Order: sequence, then C-alpha cells, then structure tokens
Amino acid sequence: MARPNTQSTAPAANKFYPHEAPKSDVDAKINDLKNKPLMQKIAASDSLFPDASKLVLTWAMQQMNADLDPYMKNEVSKGGHAEGRSVAGAGAAEDEADEADFFVRPNGQKYFHRAWGNTLNDVQVLRRARETNQYPLLYGPPGTGKTAMTEAAFGDDLYTVLGTGDTEVADLIGGYVQDEAGAFVWVDGPLVKAAEEGKPILLDEVGLIDPKVLSVAYGLMDGRRELVVTANPSRGTVKAIDGFFVIGATNPNAPGVRLSEALLSRFTLHVEVTTDYSMAARMGVNKHIVSAAKNMDARVRQGELDWAPQFRELLAFRDVSKAFGERFAIENLIASAPEMARPDISATLAKGPLAATYMPAQIK
Ligand SMILES: Nc1ncnc2c1ncn2[C@@H]1O[C@H](COP(=O)(O)OP(=O)(O)OP(=O)(O)O)[C@@H](O)[C@H]1O
Ligand SMILES: [Mg+2]
Repeated sequence: MARPNTQSTAPAANKFYPHEAPKSDVDAKINDLKNKPLMQKIAASDSLFPDASKLVLTWAMQQMNADLDPYMKNEVSKGGHAEGRSVAGAGAAEDEADEADFFVRPNGQKYFHRAWGNTLNDVQVLRRARETNQYPLLYGPPGTGKTAMTEAAFGDDLYTVLGTGDTEVADLIGGYVQDEAGAFVWVDGPLVKAAEEGKPILLDEVGLIDPKVLSVAYGLMDGRRELVVTANPSRGTVKAIDGFFVIGATNPNAPGVRLSEALLSRFTLHVEVTTDYSMAARMGVNKHIVSAAKNMDARVRQGELDWAPQFRELLAFRDVSKAFGERFAIENLIASAPEMARPDISATLAKGPLAATYMPAQIK
C-alpha cells in the first residue's frame, strides 16, 4: 500500500487513491489513542517532566501502524516539538533512511521520493497531474527510477505496456483471440481498459513503439478523450472516464527511439529523471562507489564518457557486495557495464580510495 503523503503541501487523499486511509479515519484513530486513560495520565506527567508525553507519543508513533506515522509526527509537532528529518549517513543501512520518505511499490520495494519542482515530491506531482489531466513524459538513462516512481504513485491501479519495436496496435487496444471452442472473441487491451476504468497507464519505453502504432492513443490523450475501435466495429467508441491518465517513460538516447511531435505535444509535463547519488549512499551503497559513479555521470553530461552507473547498477552493487564481497562486486560492476565503458570504470576506481587493479568479472 502506498504511504500517505507527508509534506504539508500534499494533496489530500482523493477518490483516485482509495487504497490510502482517508485522513478522517487516521484522525479518529489518533483521537481514540489520545482519549485512552493511560495517555491522559501521561499528558498530566508533563507538569513534572516537561517532555514526558512527547517521548511517549514519539515512541508510540514508532510502534504503531506505519500509516499513522506522518499524522502522529504532526500531532507531536503541534505541541511545539519540531521533528527533524533523520539524516542517515553515507553507507548506512537502507532501513536507517527516514521511513516517512518512501512509498511502497506493489512488489513490496521501497521507493524513496524525490523533489520535482520546489514544493512537491515526484509521487505527489504524478498524482496531482492525474487529477488535472496533465500527462507526464519521464525521460532519462536506464535504471534511474522512471518505472519505480510511477508504480510508487499508482500502485495496483496502474496498467503497464512495455514498449518494443514490435509493439502492435492490438497490444494497446486489444484484439480477437480464440476461445476453447475455437470461436474468435474480442479481448480489450490495456489502453481500452484504462480508459473505461479511469485508471493510469504507463507506456514504458514509449520511444521504442512505432509512432504509427501509438497514433491510436492520440484521441484518448487530447481533448476528445475517446478512441474508435476500428478493428471491432461492435466495440464502437471507447470513452475515457475521469481518472484515466497516461504516463510515458523513455530513454531518449537508446538506439531505435523515435518520438513524434504529435506524441510529444500530448505530454504536457516533461521531466528528466536522473540518479540521486546521495540517496543511493543513504540506501547502503558503498560511498566510494557512489562517488566514482557520480563522477562518471558528470563526465557523461560533459560528453566525455558514454555511460555511468545509475540507481539500478548501484543497488545491484550493494546486493552483490553483501552476498559475495566488495572486490567481487566491483569486478561484477565492470563486467555489467557496456564494453566501451569498462576501462573508464576501472580507471576511475583505480584512482580512488579503493585503488587496486580491477578486471571485469570473468570465468576462465
Ligand atoms: N528513488 C528510488 N528509491 C528506491 N529505489 C529506487 C529509486 N529509484 C530507482 N530505484 C531502484 O532502481 C532500480 C531501477 O529503477 P527503474 O527500473 O524504475 O528504472 P527505469 O528508469 O525505469 O529504467 P529503464 O529505463 O531501464 O526502464 C529499481 O530497482 C528501483 O527500485
Ligand atoms: Mg523502466
């Protein structure tokens, strides 16, 4: 389940996010707790020990249902006790990162939200964009969190199409399949389902899908918000209901990527998704590896290198390192890089605090 938003600017849970506890329920639980005789006795003890109730409430907050955390923090702060954001040091275990900073994806993994603009985090922007029908295009190198962010925002509501050069119209809107009796029956595709159910749909690797194929989605993505299913006249015109939302994700520099002007103009929010290297360190990735990766990433931006490790490679490094040791993980990281980038990683690491001669992992 997605965590409730924790910033004061957070939009309230709304009809699109029924899986989030309505705030009124949470308030009721807090009030219930505060009305317990024990809590009243604890509050009375403040006259003897000024911070006693704060300590107990804070402890209770940590023990309770995770959904209540942000609200309990609010309650404690209202009493004039500012809550600092916990800052886990580089190399600290993932669990040490501030719990309120993440959302949980349907696969159970944590997604640590990041700022998008000055006031909201990325998950909040995606959710607000859905309420206002502003479709976002997330672009950036592989492994920077584009898919993870979208899953964190929409959880089980999300339909996903993983685009390839072979994606066909039928993969989006549906087609005829043979049933057990051998008769052909129409089965709706994910785009049609998302439109009629008012759900979000992620067109992942959208740049790999042939623009001609994608043009079937144009009507749903502009003011018309409808689609004529020409392959099945009896299916007629599909109308998108409130809540339908399209997110595109792409690596614009991958071979074969084409994005038509017509498609680009239907995405009104465009954002580059990059790796937050300090977050990777807070998630337990060796800080020397993080700093080497960050350095390489800066050189990619200056056009000096073609590749740098992103979130995906860094988290894999952390996990491989835990299982097989650091040297193994470094040589594995080098082997996992595109061939042309391998000498650069070896050279970058050979200079730093982990200085040694590293070769790409190899079984001889
Ligand atoms: N902010 C984050 N918090 C926690 N984990 C993250 C975050 N960003 C990325 N990750 C992790 O990094 C890995 C790569 O993320 P993801 O698959 O979303 O990248 P992507 O940008 O969609 O890549 P691709 O372009 O290859 O599809 C995943 O394991 C994901 O869980
Ligand atoms: Mg992805």
